[in-house]
Amino acid sequence: MNHLRAKDWAALKPPLLRFLDACHADFAAETGGNVADYIPELGKADPDHFGISLATLDGHVYEVGDSRIPFTIQSMSKPFVFALALDTLGAARVENAIGVEPSGDPFNSIRLNADNHPFNPMVNAGAITCSGLIREAKGDGAFEYIRSALGRFAGRELGVDEAVFTSESTTGDRNRAIGYLLRTNSVLKEDVSKVLEVYFRQCAILVTARDIAVMAATLANRGKNPVTGEQVMTPYAISRTLSVMTSSGMYDYAGEWIYRVGIPAKSGVGGGILAALPARLGLGSYSPKLDSHGNSVRGIGVCEALSAHYDLHMLNRSDDARNSIIADYNIGKSPSRRSRRPHERHILATHHQAVRIIELVGPLTFSNVDYISRQLAAKPRPQFVIFDLRRVAAMTRAGVRLLAEEFQELAAFNVTVILSGVRRSSADWKLIKEQAKGLTNLRDFYLLDTAIEWAEDQVVYRHGGAIDFHETTGLSEQPLLAGLSASEIEEIAALGAMRSYRSGERIVAAGDPSTSLFFLVSGVVHVSLPDGVRLATLTAGTAFGEMALLETYRTADVLADMSATALEIPLDAFERYREKHPRVGERIMRNLAQLLAERLIVANTKVDLLTAP
Ligand code: DON
Repeated sequence: MNHLRAKDWAALKPPLLRFLDACHADFAAETGGNVADYIPELGKADPDHFGISLATLDGHVYEVGDSRIPFTIQSMSKPFVFALALDTLGAARVENAIGVEPSGDPFNSIRLNADNHPFNPMVNAGAITCSGLIREAKGDGAFEYIRSALGRFAGRELGVDEAVFTSESTTGDRNRAIGYLLRTNSVLKEDVSKVLEVYFRQCAILVTARDIAVMAATLANRGKNPVTGEQVMTPYAISRTLSVMTSSGMYDYAGEWIYRVGIPAKSGVGGGILAALPARLGLGSYSPKLDSHGNSVRGIGVCEALSAHYDLHMLNRSDDARNSIIADYNIGKSPSRRSRRPHERHILATHHQAVRIIELVGPLTFSNVDYISRQLAAKPRPQFVIFDLRRVAAMTRAGVRLLAEEFQELAAFNVTVILSGVRRSSADWKLIKEQAKGLTNLRDFYLLDTAIEWAEDQVVYRHGGAIDFHETTGLSEQPLLAGLSASEIEEIAALGAMRSYRSGERIVAAGDPSTSLFFLVSGVVHVSLPDGVRLATLTAGTAFGEMALLETYRTADVLADMSATALEIPLDAFERYREKHPRVGERIMRNLAQLLAERLIVANTKVDLLTAP
């Protein structure tokens, strides 16, 4: 490969940005359609302006062309004001006033449904009713209330084009006609001119293609703005808003649109198009020339191209729940990193099926949890099941509900559920607690290893084993000294001195020279990396700092978990002993090699568990 010819790395672009660039170039050549001029001020728009923006649900915003040119939002305000009405007045009040059927009519049709109510909130009659409902709730503060809500969708404060507002309010007789029709049918309770002032002003709110993309992404993200992180509206209001966008967002072109493009969308006569693909993306485009339905010609082209190129139709989806379990094992395969005394080891080996560990990955959805519950049933009943959620990126309400129902089912079989990898301060934890209210068989530990260790302890207790942390053991149990005679062990013990440590005291610090090794005689210590990762929990009868026999500097910290005593043997004294007693020295080094081999086997098993197909 010729490295001199390779492109500069700085020129690397995400393919999606390249696609949007290409779309922009292609559709810029499209000059069909007409700038709306029934609102005279709109006729002044520059027909060449063309901007595209796409916001992802992780909060990235792509922008191409005139993505920062402001224009009036017009009908694209309708979905947001409908969502706002649902959350402000309650679904019952709003759903009583406005229907949700497509009308098959143009946006400005002066027609109500058989009950004399607007067909839906996307046509002008329904949108004017929404503005009226907000006015009912907020009086003269209605418009500011709407402007501020739309700003939260966009992630910034939005202004108003006063000229466009004045222009529409002096010419908007058709909308006045709709207003009086609504009033005479008692759908509008407020003064028509005051409601229309709110409606015309909301249509004159200034946005850019970028704003529209972020607003659409907020709709696609169950109402949480992916850029600011704010939950702007409830998931209920958002899902119902997307429903009416799907059936009526493109007016008398809605059926064709959802059939071909398959992305809920809304257009505005200002030249904007907003498309929100649930759980994927938000798109905003701006180009003022419109087709006969009042939709931006280039904007429609961009949406069609995006959907066709990446096959994004919202009903063209599949999912495979089998990817949701990354590892499923018991403590026989991969135990905790706690050293265990021989009698504990024996109990745990006999009852290795008592603790089952299921490590999950990806979102906790309805299908994933259902699959997990069937996997759990497919093997013998454990006494403890640990669900590790640290790789779970998101949880749906349905997923958590099904999981809580699974916990309940397990409770009936006397199985204790332990969760790891969720912080108690997180929203996910709140959701789980809400759904699992009243369950007594649920425990949680943030670290998976702590969870496994706790479950192992319970198994040891249940089978009559005691865990006495203060028990003093001689050195004869030390695996590092296995095979040595009592007198040889005594000689080694005489090389060192007994040390006592307080709970929390650091015994060994990473980076320090390795000048001694330790035999833990009572208490518990843990070995951890400077970044906090806990490598092992050690109890009486094991050695630590023994890597000093191989390494010049300490590679990890050792801290006392409770008061502990250890025999510290200086390395130089030990080396002198080894020179004098080469056979014993070799035995100890072989024991060390064996311990390291055992640790390697445990580590390899865990890697295998996580990478098995
Ligand atoms: O009510 C009107 O006529 C305008 N303020 C909004 C219409 C609109 O954007 C229609 N959508 N394509």
